[in-house]
Amino acid sequence: MSFYENRVLPHLINLACSSKPVLKQREKVVPQATGRVLEIGMGSGLNIPYYEPDKIELVWGLEPSSGMRRKARSRADAAPFELRWLDLPGEEIPLDNHSADTIVLTYTLCTIPDSMAALKQMRRVLRPGGKLLFSEHGKAPDAAVQKWQDRINPYWKKMAGGCHLNRDIPRLLHEAGFTLGKIETMYVPSTPKFAGFTYWGDAD
Ligand SMILES: C[S@@+](CC[C@H](N)C(=O)[O-])C[C@H]1O[C@@H](n2cnc3c(N)ncnc32)[C@H](O)[C@@H]1O
Repeated sequence: MSFYENRVLPHLINLACSSKPVLKQREKVVPQATGRVLEIGMGSGLNIPYYEPDKIELVWGLEPSSGMRRKARSRADAAPFELRWLDLPGEEIPLDNHSADTIVLTYTLCTIPDSMAALKQMRRVLRPGGKLLFSEHGKAPDAAVQKWQDRINPYWKKMAGGCHLNRDIPRLLHEAGFTLGKIETMYVPSTPKFAGFTYWGDAD
C-alpha cells in the first residue's frame, strides 16, 4: 500500500465524508439499525455516533484498509456498543449465512471493486426479513451530469481510492437480488453535482 493510500487518503476521505449534508444523510439511515449489525466499509467510523445503542446487540465493522481503521480508532474506542472489526473486503464477508439483522452501507458501494460480488455476500449474510440500509452517491438522472460523471470517472477513481461516480445504485441492488423498499434521491447540497447525486433507503 502506498503512503498516499495508507496515510493521506484516510484523512481526505474522512474530511469529504463528514460534510454537513453527508452527516445529515447518516442521521436519516443509521439510527434505523437494529440487532446484529454489519457495516460494510466502516471507514473512519463516522456512522458510530448515529447508532442507537439500545437497539444494537453488536456491530461488525468490516473495513479492509488499515489506514481507515487507524483513522476510526478514537470513534471506535468511544462506541457505546460492542464493535468487532473484520479486516477483509466486502467481497469476502467472513460471517455465517443469515447472521446479520441489519447491513449498513454508506458511501462504500462506489468504492468496492467487485460491487456485485460484495452485494451477493451481503444477501447471503442478511437474515430473511433483515434490512439493508443504504445512502450511496451514484449515477445522476440528468444527461449532462451523467456525461461529466463518465468523463471524470477514470481520473477520480485514481485520486479517490477507487470511488466510481457513475454506479447505478438501484440497478445494482436489484441485480444482486435485493427488493428495494423505500428509496429517496437528491443532489445533496454543497457538493458538486457529479459527486452529489445520492440514493438512500432500505432493501431486503
Ligand atoms: C468513501 S469511504 C466511506 C467510508 C464509510 N462507509 C463512511 O460512510 O464514511 C469508502 C470505504 O470503503 C472501503 N473499501 C474499499 N474497498 C472495499 C471493499 N472491497 N470492501 C469493503 N470496503 C471497502 C474503503 O477502505 C473506505 O473506507
